[in-house]
Amino acid sequence: GSIGKDGYRHYMEKELHEHPLVIGQTLQRMVDPASRRVMLPEMPFDLASVPRAVITACGSAFYAGMIGRYWLEDIARLPVDIDVASEMRYRNPPLTAGSLGLLISQSGETADTLAALRSLREKAVHILSVLNVEHSTMARESDVVLGTVAGPEISVASTKAFTAQLTVLACLSIAAARARGTLDEAGEDALVSALLDLPSRAAEVFTQGPAIRRMAQIVVEARDVLYLGRGSMFPVAMEGALKLKEITYIHAEAYAAGEMKHGPISLIDRTVPIVASAPYTPLFDKTLSNLQEAKARGGRLLVFTDTKGADRVSAIAEEMVVLPHVHDFVAPILQTIPVQMLAYEVAVLKGTDVDQPRNLAKSVTVE
Ligand code: G6P
Repeated sequence: GSIGKDGYRHYMEKELHEHPLVIGQTLQRMVDPASRRVMLPEMPFDLASVPRAVITACGSAFYAGMIGRYWLEDIARLPVDIDVASEMRYRNPPLTAGSLGLLISQSGETADTLAALRSLREKAVHILSVLNVEHSTMARESDVVLGTVAGPEISVASTKAFTAQLTVLACLSIAAARARGTLDEAGEDALVSALLDLPSRAAEVFTQGPAIRRMAQIVVEARDVLYLGRGSMFPVAMEGALKLKEITYIHAEAYAAGEMKHGPISLIDRTVPIVASAPYTPLFDKTLSNLQEAKARGGRLLVFTDTKGADRVSAIAEEMVVLPHVHDFVAPILQTIPVQMLAYEVAVLKGTDVDQPRNLAKSVTVE
């Protein structure tokens, strides 16, 4: 049947509110409730002996893949290469047979991602796809499909499918780590607990609506916005910048916070707001010192942090959004929600066509 907006102003707003539900549904599919262990479907290859993974995707799904790379490298000690599909399909990377091709797509139909899948297939790699539409072309051409249980996503700009992709990639990283002997049972318990805790922590993000709307009042006046993050927060910043461009038509650029001094610092003045994702992780101090550098040059700081980082952030930020503090591992999943909400609130202030932004398509089936 047709899907309504359930009283929300736009599909995007409705889908943003589905983050907690979708993360929970995806976890139900991947975590055994009794043993609290990650249980993936049977795979026709062994994650223990995969020499390398190649991740490829487009748009938001690519940023999910970048976070997946941090996890697979860090937890599972698996070497990872990653590129956007429109480049990967022409790159011809040297790959040992038996490597893993990891494709990520909401629709399962994106032309470049499908072409990249086929070019990886020619190299005799195993094809594992993380897909929301489980009866799609990519699903048919994959050796294994890990489904994101996000339900239909109507808004052209992806929201809930992205956190569902992250949830699947987190579970895959845990499973790969267990198979490769790089994560013991206590370590797995800690990561799984952090994941299972996420739906309720995600629901708490919506109490931050007023602070996000105050940030939106500043961003809507800007012509350019700089997004910053370090480590797994860098792809979160990229996702935030992409969302802002897509639905508000305001130029935004994401930078790894530590790289800012090698270029974009010259852009900073009062007219270029800086949106930073800075929860209290091991990289918090480093991120904060980058933000101080920006502030010293007249930058206005709009900072997403958490309860453990709030005191120190409040000393320098003009506006801040405080989320619950969670395990570092899942922090990028939680921190994605408010950066997407910020783009949405700016679009509402600008009065753009939020669900159908100009020039964009939900699924790009041409090269
Ligand atoms: C389009 C959409 C994006 C999406 C990208 C990849 O550009 O506007 O929101 O991230 O395609 O789509 P996919 O279906 O492959 O995830």
